[in-house]
Amino acid sequence: MLEKMQLIGCKIAKTPPRDVDENQCFICDSDKLEYPTDIVRQIFADSAQKKWRQVLDSLYTRYGWVYEHSVNVALILAMIGAELHLDAASLYRLTLGGLLHDVGKLMIPMTIIQKDTTLNDSEMALVKKHSELGVSLVAGCNLHDDCMAVIMQHHERLDGSGYPSGLKSTAIHPFAKIAMIADVLDAITSYRPYRPAKSIDEAVTLIKNEQDKFCQEYVSVLETLHQENFT
Ligand SMILES: [Fe+2]
Ligand SMILES: [Fe+2]
Repeated sequence: MLEKMQLIGCKIAKTPPRDVDENQCFICDSDKLEYPTDIVRQIFADSAQKKWRQVLDSLYTRYGWVYEHSVNVALILAMIGAELHLDAASLYRLTLGGLLHDVGKLMIPMTIIQKDTTLNDSEMALVKKHSELGVSLVAGCNLHDDCMAVIMQHHERLDGSGYPSGLKSTAIHPFAKIAMIADVLDAITSYRPYRPAKSIDEAVTLIKNEQDKFCQEYVSVLETLHQENFT
């Protein structure tokens, strides 16, 4: 089912954020796909007067592949959040956080973001600033703390090995713990010029094996969603 969600994400991401509306139809064949898609569509429908929409429009224009990744992460977050029975407002904030989680990359030079070979240490250090840069970029957008936590903490890891702050488990916002899983899943199942894409099976196994880094409660939800088959 996660593969189907990513395909829907690719279709949504082909349209600029300003042109996605709540009446736009994406082919879904189960409620479990329909509901997350509806949430993303609702976020776009509500976005016209929101300051963050300009930031997202810029991401679409400048880094289309990062935008597509962000839509996929938002959809996967909405799926996991729905499976966890989050209330509607929380689900909306979790999904919006996913949509905006990488906007800080807009502030990193294009030569680094678009580089098609492995980054050197100084380039990597710069890329690692995108969480904090993202928070500063949307600071005036009146976003809920839940969204800001996803942007700031999606690269933290439970064992403290993540960035930007090396936070450990209890210090990490629950939504960021979900976001780090969705982010890694979409990243490693997507092709990059410097490495091939892995299958979702491989990605879920990799995440599952990193028990020190990823919250297993949420990994179990991801695994359940992956195993469900609606065809
Ligand atoms: Fe990121
Ligand atoms: Fe990401």
